Amino acid sequence: MKCLEDTVKFTETKEKDNKDVLILAIESSCDETAAAVVKNGREVLSNIISSQIDLHKLYGGVVPEIASRKHIEKINQVIEEALTSADVGFDDLDAIAVTYGPGLVGALLVGVAEAKAISYARNLPLVGVHHIEGHISANYIENKELEPPFICLVVSGGHTHLVRVEDYGEYVILGRTRDDAAGEAYDKVARAIGLGYPGGPKIDRLAKEGNPDAIVFPKAKIADAPYDFSFSGLKSAVLNYLNGCKMKGEQIVEADVAASFQKAVVDVLIEHAMLALKESGLDQFALAGGVASNSALRAAAETACRENGLRFYRPSPILCTDNAAMIGAAAYYEYQKGVRHGLDLNAVPNLKLGER
Ligand code: KG4
Ligand code: ZN
Repeated sequence: MKCLEDTVKFTETKEKDNKDVLILAIESSCDETAAAVVKNGREVLSNIISSQIDLHKLYGGVVPEIASRKHIEKINQVIEEALTSADVGFDDLDAIAVTYGPGLVGALLVGVAEAKAISYARNLPLVGVHHIEGHISANYIENKELEPPFICLVVSGGHTHLVRVEDYGEYVILGRTRDDAAGEAYDKVARAIGLGYPGGPKIDRLAKEGNPDAIVFPKAKIADAPYDFSFSGLKSAVLNYLNGCKMKGEQIVEADVAASFQKAVVDVLIEHAMLALKESGLDQFALAGGVASNSALRAAAETACRENGLRFYRPSPILCTDNAAMIGAAAYYEYQKGVRHGLDLNAVPNLKLGER
């Protein structure tokens, strides 16, 4: 939603020619309360993340009500820290950016309300950002040479998207998961093996000690949709395997289960991504999202890119999981295009990529 009156007002008072653009970005879509100051979309002056993982761990996953409450407690402190460590004040800023979807509605609302309050109080333009666009844009921060078009595989706890990035802010979704997201499958399998939440990093670590060829788990292919994914069958296959072992009294080698499950996930992700690169004729591939910090996925992507003569990009692990620097990077390109949101901006829990 855009409010033209606000656009005009902010444009007149805040925009100057040939000047660095400083954006304060806020992210609160799930269980991280984060704020960052980003200069010209690619230079991170500060990146503060307050993680709630230890709290949600007790319940085996994110509890939405607790997440919202914690965001409220932390958000002012996180923003203050982001400004202080960037050594900037509100008056130095050109815009305020915030994730407004997709995500948990109560969690998103905290960031959106905060950003609107700052926008109003400080007369700063407001730029609402799509969370996935943020994940994709994390790649711009450390790879100054990366420009669209490229193919991006977005793999997180809530999303698994194969995206053709046409231009800044312009996306074509080639494929998506039909059921569980890749991160969700990691978390569920980790719980079944008894590793706890969040499972992704734990499976990643345990898999290093296991044999990826010990157990052959199915790799789902969807007829007529070569870029789509399905991970719920794989998750069930792992659960069936574990139950079968228990019933037969056979010993379960957790590291082998982790390594074999991970191989099935990574093989499918890379196969689909490489097909998209081949068919699109593009020569740049990027990973994004929490699962993009997975060591096996990063290694497999690197090898596949080398073998196919493609340039490979991925953010550092701290920029893969939820953070506000990626929101500031995405917001810069939206801001440059003239995108402004009004004070009627709302949280949109199921916001589609490319929608404004
Ligand atoms: O992007 P993110 O922080 O939040 C969402 O937008 O969902 O992703 C969190 C997800 C969780 O499912 C977590 O288990 C997974 O990313 N993850 C990993 C790794 N690090 C985080 N999955 C596999 N290997 C990892 N190293
Ligand atoms: Zn995320």
